[in-house]
Amino acid sequence: MANKITYSIYIIDDEETIREGVSMALEPDYQVETFSTAEAAVKAMENGPPDLILLDIGLPGMDGIKALGIIKGLYPDTMIIIITAYEDLDTGISAMKSGAFDYVVKPLHMDALEITIHNALETIRLRKEIRHLQENYLKENLPCFIGESKAIQDVMEFIEMVAKSPDTPILILGETGTGKEFLAGAIHYRSPNFKGPLMTVNCAAIPKDLIESELFGYEKGAFSGAGATGKKGLIEEAANGTLFLDEVGDLSLEAQAKLLRFLEEGEFYKVGGTKKQQVQTRVVSATNKDLDRMIEKDQFRKDLYFRLGVIKVQVPSLNERRDDILRIAKHFLYEFGRKFGKTFTGISPLTESALMAYNWTGNVRELKNVIERGALIGKGPELEDKDLGINSGNEAETNTPLKGETAFPPLPATGIDLAAVHESLDRHYIEAALKIAAGNESKAAKLLNMNHHTFRYHHKKLQTK
Ligand SMILES: Nc1ncnc2c1ncn2[C@@H]1O[C@H](COP(=O)(O)OP(=O)(O)OP(=O)(O)O)[C@@H](O)[C@H]1O
Ligand SMILES: [Mg+2]
Repeated sequence: MANKITYSIYIIDDEETIREGVSMALEPDYQVETFSTAEAAVKAMENGPPDLILLDIGLPGMDGIKALGIIKGLYPDTMIIIITAYEDLDTGISAMKSGAFDYVVKPLHMDALEITIHNALETIRLRKEIRHLQENYLKENLPCFIGESKAIQDVMEFIEMVAKSPDTPILILGETGTGKEFLAGAIHYRSPNFKGPLMTVNCAAIPKDLIESELFGYEKGAFSGAGATGKKGLIEEAANGTLFLDEVGDLSLEAQAKLLRFLEEGEFYKVGGTKKQQVQTRVVSATNKDLDRMIEKDQFRKDLYFRLGVIKVQVPSLNERRDDILRIAKHFLYEFGRKFGKTFTGISPLTESALMAYNWTGNVRELKNVIERGALIGKGPELEDKDLGINSGNEAETNTPLKGETAFPPLPATGIDLAAVHESLDRHYIEAALKIAAGNESKAAKLLNMNHHTFRYHHKKLQTK
């Protein structure tokens, strides 16, 4: 039943008999207040509107139709049932066009009125339920951020916590492709502002002389070409939401000064404007630049750095969380396989070793691109290292495979055949080296830090297997 939750109902009617009769009938189930004028009811709503209003059309002072417009404008969620005299039936119908839920005709029949009220409250209940479901859906179905390494789990936990405030500035630092933009989205959707807009500004992509008008907007005629109407800035567009300043290290010193003023005062002027504007928004910023060094070189304001980074999040590079490499690779293999209409059963052991040994200077973005290529070119059923394109000459020059234990996949609980892994590693690197050296054995041997004879010995051994 709808009336299990206590709903509040206003009765606005100048006839005392109606106010008393209806409130007596409703009071056991609902929280009822009565008003003889619309003005008094609108005033009372300043402390919070009721769920439902029974509104008479023929009122002294402000009439019901006028009150309907005002109340719907101020409190669109409040349901209104119009009470109309039989002679005024047309008004009742037109009131529905203006947003009334339904109308009832005088003389009132309590049974019919209760059914109409019940229907209205049921609609409110369903609406609330849908909103609740939508909110939960949004929160639970965010794009999937992959990573089970301790390093990334710590970051996610921290983000979950700091996202809860609606306006604390957050600065995300990390190498290129580590997922900074991704995390900015995660902050927005986990924050109380998630129903508001998420506006992204790529500070590096906007020409220096336009950044101010892009961020703060401009008044009409502020500069030649400003247009006749003026424009809202991105800060204003991000009201009650999140403003994501990507590549914030690329802001000019001039724009930095203006941004700082906004962050400190919450106020700004449009370009060419004289009226102070106020906006509530959370500023999340990100950069892959070394801001400390930029501050030393006077390229970035220290005060702005402190203000942007009230909360700082350092995203670990993929090389620092190598146990995520294969997980992320598998995720993208599945995603791209589906996109390209292919079914991959997994990643071949050799390919796994290659992915684990690679130096991921481009982080997750690079890994994603490599897997996309492999999934597109690969014939399956497993993803093969030859399709990844990470062992060609160029990459070998720029990407030195890592030395030491960190380069290897974790030991699965079920154990491994170490000799077989050893052999597949030998095979992988010997073949790769030969490919890069275009078949020249001494060059290939050099790439593997072996002398020519040892290389030949291993190569031969593998060929006879
Ligand atoms: N943990 C992750 N799980 C899934 N996808 C990820 C993850 N991290 C990054 N990505 C993906 O990698 C790509 C690069 O991420 P993003 O654009 O957020 O990086 P960035 O840190 O902003 O890089 P840059 O500094 O170059 O702007 C995106 O396609 C993103 O979806
Ligand atoms: Mg980015």
